[in-house]
Amino acid sequence: MKIFRTTSELIKWRKEGVLGLLGFVPTMGALHEGHASLLRSARKESDVVVLSILVNPTQFGDVSDLENYPKTLEKDLKIAEKEGVDAVFAPTPEDLYGGIPSADNVDWGAITSDFEAEFRPGHFNGVVAVVDKLFTTINSDKAFFGEKDLQQVAVIRRLALLHHNEVEIVSCDLIRDSDELALSSRNIRLSREGRTIALELSKSLKAIFNSSNKVGQIRLETSRIDAIEGLDLDYLAGVNEVTYSKNDDPQSWTHAIIAAEVDGVRLIDNIRL
Ligand code: PAF
Repeated sequence: MKIFRTTSELIKWRKEGVLGLLGFVPTMGALHEGHASLLRSARKESDVVVLSILVNPTQFGDVSDLENYPKTLEKDLKIAEKEGVDAVFAPTPEDLYGGIPSADNVDWGAITSDFEAEFRPGHFNGVVAVVDKLFTTINSDKAFFGEKDLQQVAVIRRLALLHHNEVEIVSCDLIRDSDELALSSRNIRLSREGRTIALELSKSLKAIFNSSNKVGQIRLETSRIDAIEGLDLDYLAGVNEVTYSKNDDPQSWTHAIIAAEVDGVRLIDNIRL
């Protein structure tokens, strides 16, 4: 497995010619089973697999969230090796951005203004900035993203449509732990009690999935969650995975989505309806 620590090394390798279809899995490291499953999909669907590891500063609004983001490069490299990754690209932010990292404002309607965008101002500007640079540098045929970050998938699809027609975006199923908590690199920051409280997110989504009155159930679950101590709800809603526009017509919904904070850790989850 090759490891490239600078953009110029990666570009040189690409210029030497990669044989076959190239699949790309972008990550911020702290790899878990969700990432491993993305790597397995990439392995199945491509001849050459590139994994990027970069904690991207421009997508963090909160300095402490950036500072506390887990960094486990040694462990990540072992997982990458095990999953048959051909090349790991792990530059510094300054190297990839070619200077001090910054991001332009992106306005693509509801997908970049509502839900996650509303609670994490500037987040998608940073995601678009870094993924745009990664797509340009790696120039892959396919790129794989997890559906846990469902709104991010919508944003990346728009980025590809507007600026990177060469890349096919493949979205992969959200992966849950045995207790049904959606896998996330941030989960390791949850206390034991916090983890138990966090399970309320997937419980609510399941209740909405099973209900014939989705609007009513969302209202019910919102009050139930609001009453739970230690759980700070940002939103619980039904959405269409493409438009992300806020509306009360369950016919247009593809998913129920939820975001909340537990132990100062922001958690998101969703379920296909
Ligand atoms: O989903 C993530 O881990 C990040 O948002 C991404 C796509 C790697 C960009 O930094």
